[in-house]
Amino acid sequence: MTNCHQVAPFDYVIFGATGDLTMRKLLPALYYRLTMGQVPDTARIIGTARSPLKRSEYQTRARDALKRFVKSDDFDEDTVDRFLEMVHYVSLDGSKPDSNWEGLREVLSHKAEEHVRVFYYATAPDLYGAISKNLHQEGLVTDDSRVVLEKPIGIDLKTAEEINEGVGQYFKENNVFRIDHYLGKETVQNVIALRFANPLFEAVWSAEHIESVQITAGEVVGVEGRAAYYDNSGALRDMVQNHLLQVLCLVAMEKPASLQADDVRDAKVTVLKSLVPLDEKTLKTSTVRAQYTKGSIKGAKVDGYLDELGHESNTETYVALRAEIDTPRWKNVPFYIRSAKRLKAKVSEIVVTFKASATELFPSRPEKNVLVIRIQPDEGLSYRFSVKNPMDDDFGLWETDMDVSFEREFAVRYPDAYERLLLDAVRGYPVLFIRRDEVEAAWKWVAPVMNAWGRNEVPMAQYAAGSWGPEEARQMLARDGQIWHEEME
Ligand code: BG6
Repeated sequence: MTNCHQVAPFDYVIFGATGDLTMRKLLPALYYRLTMGQVPDTARIIGTARSPLKRSEYQTRARDALKRFVKSDDFDEDTVDRFLEMVHYVSLDGSKPDSNWEGLREVLSHKAEEHVRVFYYATAPDLYGAISKNLHQEGLVTDDSRVVLEKPIGIDLKTAEEINEGVGQYFKENNVFRIDHYLGKETVQNVIALRFANPLFEAVWSAEHIESVQITAGEVVGVEGRAAYYDNSGALRDMVQNHLLQVLCLVAMEKPASLQADDVRDAKVTVLKSLVPLDEKTLKTSTVRAQYTKGSIKGAKVDGYLDELGHESNTETYVALRAEIDTPRWKNVPFYIRSAKRLKAKVSEIVVTFKASATELFPSRPEKNVLVIRIQPDEGLSYRFSVKNPMDDDFGLWETDMDVSFEREFAVRYPDAYERLLLDAVRGYPVLFIRRDEVEAAWKWVAPVMNAWGRNEVPMAQYAAGSWGPEEARQMLARDGQIWHEEME
């Protein structure tokens, strides 16, 4: 199946259409796919939110959003006009049964041909159930209407189950598309290609040869305008439960029977269920949480988290976990997962450290080989390995890097992850979305961490904004004789 063709005409009904996500990600993503010829001109984007806006006022906001979030070289007036023609607006509170449903029905009914109907929930997740119920009661959910659920799906297992139940009453599971935008990243999908299309990697991808795996998603930005959301969430819920565990699944899963959605998801959920639960003892040694204090980022002074908030908080802006997977393939291999705001650099990457060769053939023992999969920025990969040092007649070794930059290799624009995911939902192509059991298994594994942190059983560490994180995280790896990637030469 090729996904590059134009999709069928669709109606994208967005709940939360005046919010940051819609403006920053959803509208620009659909615009880009229009420029690529993948969106038919008859498609419609129907924004809904509580604000009493006229269609023309919403179109103006949409234009402003494109101006801001589409690269200026890609902002084409004619295409923007075509795009805005597709944009409609209905002032509606999706969580209320007595709201302006008639308005939505009317827009939906004005069409000359069949449209695939997709509802996108970009609201607070606790409204997902109510919106689904109202859509159903209004008779707006057709047999193949799809619903896209933005993360977070709940704040713990119980709330996730409630949301899944609430939505599941009105949408069949195969019509529910739970977004995890990390799966929309080309470089994350590439993990599957790298592992299973290359015998070199496939053959060594196990505890026999791999010593440790690091998965990092670090950001330079702080909590930006999202403090209210973030302070209720924290790095563990915001990044680990979803994005980083998904990446871990792709790194660790067994070869799926096929690339069909359920085969890949079956393989992923097995990983999640095989994560060794953290217990009272390991919670203290295998989890680090921290908040940034004041520091400096690219020469500019920045405030600490608590100063920004203006009040006390028990929310972590940094998380590092040590996970193990109880399968024969990964026996005793530590997976270090970390994510943070206000780090020294923006970097999402997977670092695979191989065991050093035990050979005594050379005067010095070979260094460990290290494979770095750069998810972003500078998408690509590098592989550090040993060659003979040509300046050394005693068979001395030299460490060198094979480096592939995808930008140089493909010379294409790297699409935002949302672009393809939005159209995959129209296509009914679910492989890059999360199945219900995956979400729930991920919450199950992080629950003991959330609970122990909630009870302050693990002290809140600190790190200066603009650093690589707290000393405690360095020590966690040192206990295993490991170091974080930025400390490797
Ligand atoms: C979002 C989180 O899911 O992912 C944000 O809510 C975070 O806090 C963002 O900034 C990071 O995404 P990316 O694609 O920039 O790594």
